[in-house]
This record gives sequence, C-alpha cells and structure tokens, in this order.
Amino acid sequence: MTDKARIAVFISGAGTNMAALVYASRIEGCPYDVALVASNDPDAPGLALAAAEGIATFAQSHKGLTREAHDAAMEAAVIAAGAEYIVLAGYMRILSDGFVERWAGRMLNIHPSLLPLYKGLDTHARALEAGDSHAGTSVHLVTPELDAGEVLAQLAVPIVPGDTPESLANRVKFAEHQLYPRAVADYVGRWRDPAALLQRVRALALALPETDERESHGSPGFRVGGEKAGKFFAYFADQHHGTPHIACLVRTGSMDELLNLVESQPDIYYKPAYYGASGWVGIILNRPGVDWDEVAQWLQRSWRNVAPKRLTRLMDAADAF
Ligand code: GAR
Repeated sequence: MTDKARIAVFISGAGTNMAALVYASRIEGCPYDVALVASNDPDAPGLALAAAEGIATFAQSHKGLTREAHDAAMEAAVIAAGAEYIVLAGYMRILSDGFVERWAGRMLNIHPSLLPLYKGLDTHARALEAGDSHAGTSVHLVTPELDAGEVLAQLAVPIVPGDTPESLANRVKFAEHQLYPRAVADYVGRWRDPAALLQRVRALALALPETDERESHGSPGFRVGGEKAGKFFAYFADQHHGTPHIACLVRTGSMDELLNLVESQPDIYYKPAYYGASGWVGIILNRPGVDWDEVAQWLQRSWRNVAPKRLTRLMDAADAF
C-alpha cells in the first residue's frame, strides 16, 4: 500500500487550481497523488493538461441529466480511480445532498472569498462593491449548505485602486495556488500528525465524566476520579521506545485479551513496552481509516475499569436491563 492519499479533482473551467495541486503533488514529500481529474464540461481546458500529465480524466456533461444522475456518473469515476478524497477546484455545479453526505469529511472546496463573507457567486464584484480593503480565498469542507462547511485555511489578498472583478480574481488565484495544495496536504496528512491525533484523543477522553489530563513520563495521560485519587485510564504515545506508532493506550480486561488483540489484528493493536504486563494495549492511530467510534468505545471501557463506583454505578444499572 502506498501511503499517499489519492485525490480526485473536479473542475469546470481553466483548472489553474487543479494544475497547482498536480505540480505540488510532484514535489517530494507531498502526501497526496492526483488520481483523477473530472469535469462536467468536456471542453474544460484543464482536462487536456491533466491528460498531458498522464492523469486519468473523466468528462460528463450535466446537460440532459438530473443532478443525481450526473453526480452518480462523476462518483462512479472517482470510485473507479480509487480516490479517497474529492477536491473541488472551480467546479461550478451544486452537488446533491446524498452525494455530499456520502463524502462528508472527504470533500474539500476552494472559494474565492474570506468566508463567511460572500458565499455563492460574484464574490469579487461584491467585495469591490462593499468597499472592502481585502478580498481572499478560503478552503473548506463541503457540507450540504453552500459554502458553509468548516473553514480549513484562508488567505487575505489586498484590493488595490482600479481593481475590477477580473483583476481581483486573477490576484486571488495567485493566493489560491499557494493555499490549496498546502491545505489539501495538511488535511489528508492529518492522520499522521501527532498534534491532530492528540487533539482527537483528548476531546474523546475529556468528554467522559470527571476526567482530567496529567503528564506521565512525558506523555499526555488521562485520569478519572479527581485530583487526589485519580487513576489513569488512557495515555497518548507518540512513537515511544522506537515504535513507529502514534497510539492511544487503554486498559484491556486481561493479559490474554491483550495478546489476542495483538495477534489477531496487528495492524491495529500492539503491546506497548513497559505497560503490556498490566494489560494496556496500544491502538495505532497513525494509519488511514481509524475507526474513531471504536477508539471512543475503548476509552469508555478503560475509563469504566478504573472509575470510582459512584460514577460507574449508573452505567452498571443500565447494563443490567
Ligand atoms: C477559483 O478562483 C475558485 O476559487 C473559484 O473558481 C475559480 C476557478 O479557477 N471557485 C468558485 O467560485 C466556487 N464557487 P480555476 O479553474 O483556474 O482553478
């Protein structure tokens, strides 16, 4: 398995952002490859460039098709190309809700304004009209509501005297060509970024009742039961003792359970040095496709193993039914 993420880029026009994404992907260390360039316009100039670069292309005009049928054709091409993410780069079609929901968290867009300002069309004319000092660009996750998903990155671009919507659009594109490849790389590379992984583990661990965070032997640890009597139920381990793993350590029920997990699912679990004997298992987080619901369940179980009776009693009662 290559550890590069495969992205499909959707375009409708010139495709200069697509080109920026492609060339960034050719620089060593880029965490993604462009697996497909797809368009709703068979004459989109970007398609020829993609083809010349040896990238698979797909074009299907939306004319005469329902929105769902057109989206389905585009989606089939994405799946055939083995792409894990869809990156919209000047794709001027609204996508159907079903399609957006299926790709939730795996579809990004670049929009030529400083969101939440100026969603939709004619962003540059509106920024000029409003007398703004700056225009800009935003990269965001795509959600069913237009241009309203979480903003991942932004760059502001000054408006200069005499600007027209066209001159401003061109200047904003310089910024977009820098921003988009970086934002896509950061996003698809998150699964191996220790800071991002710790943030997720922390959010799940501290969402459990009466928990706090305390460092233990240089690692973030999570405890339950209060300041004095608190017990650790999880640790975050960043490539400890020569392992390549970034992991969340939790308590299993027993040494047998730990060994079983490690033997049957070695891609997911390992026995951490110095903790193993007491049944602590490492859940490997720096791999694609981590099931975060499962991590949350492990944290809850581990929490329950050491939480004081007054906290677990209610849960035990609920389980008895
Ligand atoms: C870009 O400026 C992008 O932000 C904008 O279209 C342009 C595409 O240029 N996207 C939108 O307006 C989306 N609503 P390109 O084809 O040269 O990359």
